[in-house]
Amino acid sequence: MTAFRFRCTECAREYPEERGRLVCAACAALQEPGGATRGVLEVELDALPLAWPPSRPSDPDFLAAFLPFEDPAALARLEVGGTPLLPVPGLRESLGLPRLWVKDDTRNPSGSTKDRASLLVVAKAREYGLGTVATASTGNAAAALAAVGAAAAVETIVFVPASAPEAKLIQVLCCGAEVVVVEGSYDEAFELCRTACETFGWYNRNTALNPFTIEGKKTAALEIAAAMSPEAPDVVLVPTGDGAILAGVAKGFLDLQRAGLLARPPRLVAVQPEGSAALVTAFRAGANEVTPHRGAASVADSLTVESPRNALLCLRRIRESGGGAVAVSDDAILEAIPALARLTGVFAEPAGAAALAGLHAALREGLVGRDERIVLLVTGSGLKDIPAAGQAVRLPRAIPPTLEAVRGRLAL
Ligand SMILES: Cc1ncc(COP(=O)(O)O)c(C=O)c1O
Ligand SMILES: [Zn+2]
Repeated sequence: MTAFRFRCTECAREYPEERGRLVCAACAALQEPGGATRGVLEVELDALPLAWPPSRPSDPDFLAAFLPFEDPAALARLEVGGTPLLPVPGLRESLGLPRLWVKDDTRNPSGSTKDRASLLVVAKAREYGLGTVATASTGNAAAALAAVGAAAAVETIVFVPASAPEAKLIQVLCCGAEVVVVEGSYDEAFELCRTACETFGWYNRNTALNPFTIEGKKTAALEIAAAMSPEAPDVVLVPTGDGAILAGVAKGFLDLQRAGLLARPPRLVAVQPEGSAALVTAFRAGANEVTPHRGAASVADSLTVESPRNALLCLRRIRESGGGAVAVSDDAILEAIPALARLTGVFAEPAGAAALAGLHAALREGLVGRDERIVLLVTGSGLKDIPAAGQAVRLPRAIPPTLEAVRGRLAL
């Protein structure tokens, strides 16, 4: 087993591995109801590899070297991660950015980056002998937990706001999870899930509470760095809601730096919708705490959160990396869906396409240089939210089945 401890990201207290431990007991005493999680724990591996393992990062022996597992067989038999880092020539040319890549995380089994976190949490639940895992989710974490739980024969329960897109709920139901639809916001679903887990003894996968979510999401960074090696990214744009994906990506690059495999972690730029921009506002104000964005709303439902749960760690990681934070309009997000698909073939849900919208904003604001090695983390598949993508295109009317009509239709 790659031995590890939990380390509090606020007070640096350390804890040995303990079945079901979520946060730092000391910092949790400061927890405000509904606020950012206090005392988020990270996994601190005792030993990191001194050289790139000979395999691809998605291979079990690569993961075993970088993740807190002795036996990768504990992981569900699903092809999570190992997604391509695409050089995207069409988008490079169109934007005048010769060193741009898309990390296509739409190609995870349930269609989003969240599979990475669920893979680890479910494996740990099995290791701990906890038969039921629950999560609150805007939709994708639920789908990821349901899919991984199905593959690992672990019972799953998800708490989602009534606003979650139907397609995501159907996906979750098909994977056999118990779905609890909460009359209220994601934030309310989060609190309900937390209380239910404490009451009924389920393992809580809630983002920014379960330390293995960060550890799972870090695999995206390991893969990006491994694919680019011996070069390294200068900047990575990360669609952000609670800030857990960004914190996970940061953890991956920091582990690689600790291992001596990466000279300098890239700058991280958080991208949030204008309608759900609590982290961007706090970052710009130089604040460490966030003020909730009351009534948060966006076409990017996956990024819509009033009170980002991983705010403290996310803000710190952005600052440490020398990165930034940008807010983008819903119109810009919707435009980015067909723009990304046309120029790269990658069809993203609004949250995923927000990475491209954020790149435009970051260029305008001088956060990203044109000659830099830039990576867009495209976090979710467009197939998850067809109605949103439908707002960005117009369906053609049917024509009669004649060549003449084809000429007319295509102006030939
Ligand atoms: C597709 C997608 N992108 C980005 C995010 C944002 O991740 P986080 O809430 O960890 O910031 C989510 C979260 O649900 C998501 O589903
Ligand atoms: Zn602490």
